[in-house]
Amino acid sequence: MKDVNVGICGLGTVGSGTFNVLTRNARLIAGRAGCSINIIRIASRRPRDDMDLGDIPFTTDIFDVVNDPSVDIVVELIGGYDTAKELVLAAIRNGKHVVTANKALIAVHGNEIFDAAQKAGVVVAYEAGVAGGIPVIKAIREGMAANRIDWIAGIINGTGNYILTEMRAGREFAEVLKEAQELGYAEADPTFDVEGIDAAHKLTILASAGFGVPLQFEKGFTEGISKITPYDIAHAELLGYRIKHLGIARRREDGIELRVHPTLIPQSHLIAKVDGVLNAVLVDGDAVGQTMYYGPGAGDEATASAVIADIVDVARAVSIGSEQRIPYLGFEPEAVEDLSV
Ligand code: HSE
Repeated sequence: MKDVNVGICGLGTVGSGTFNVLTRNARLIAGRAGCSINIIRIASRRPRDDMDLGDIPFTTDIFDVVNDPSVDIVVELIGGYDTAKELVLAAIRNGKHVVTANKALIAVHGNEIFDAAQKAGVVVAYEAGVAGGIPVIKAIREGMAANRIDWIAGIINGTGNYILTEMRAGREFAEVLKEAQELGYAEADPTFDVEGIDAAHKLTILASAGFGVPLQFEKGFTEGISKITPYDIAHAELLGYRIKHLGIARRREDGIELRVHPTLIPQSHLIAKVDGVLNAVLVDGDAVGQTMYYGPGAGDEATASAVIADIVDVARAVSIGSEQRIPYLGFEPEAVEDLSV
């Protein structure tokens, strides 16, 4: 059984969280993976002199990681579309497995990336891209493998939920958004959080995993929380409802409906009680019925938890030479082809 070598690209919120948890819990993670997982190279476009990386080689050229022949798994945590896509495709061309937290990349370029990965015989894993630390992709793909999934609905943007929660307590939208940015919850471009784009990226991925259809980000309806006022929130409360921003994917006769928008939820419903940066995803399967997955939707170590779960999955397979056992995007042949709102 061989050791598995990891190269990390990106040392922002999630990258530094991943480095810290992988280092701190190295022994127990190795025990679970059945092999040692060594970080052998780290790259970040911004120098991180404030971090103690020990004797791991550091570079500001992120492509160094994908070009290192000793790296088995490239962990892409730089975010964004273009450079990340170039980096991931280069890693795949070089025969490396990829673990990413980049939901924008997967939602928009995932079909091309998975196609390239399949041809190259490597895995691209993306658990951390959806609902932060909640292992919801694994729950859908593995735990609910027996089920025909009829709908998925959830709070899938932590920043937005944090803003709505704090506004209910009387705070200003702009002030809370600034705080969410300082806490490392928000996207580099926070309009992705407040205009629903980040949630739409995640919903696209959830729908693909749940319904076995290709990723079709552009087909969904997207509305954010930027027009919600304290008056709306107070009125909803008076009527016994709570405003929550949800992503909803539903199997219909004519296709899969994808929508992201603010909703009125009865205050007694479990999902109405999910506050702050927490996320919750309800998944309805024909065999099991309704299930709910709940936990931190953003943040350094919470998201790192999901990144490392994927690293462990891939490392288990790599260490025994059976990578192809991990089918990250197997479409169901009988799945509904078309996505329409
Ligand atoms: N900006 C995202 C959120 C980060 O707030 O949910 C986690 O994907």
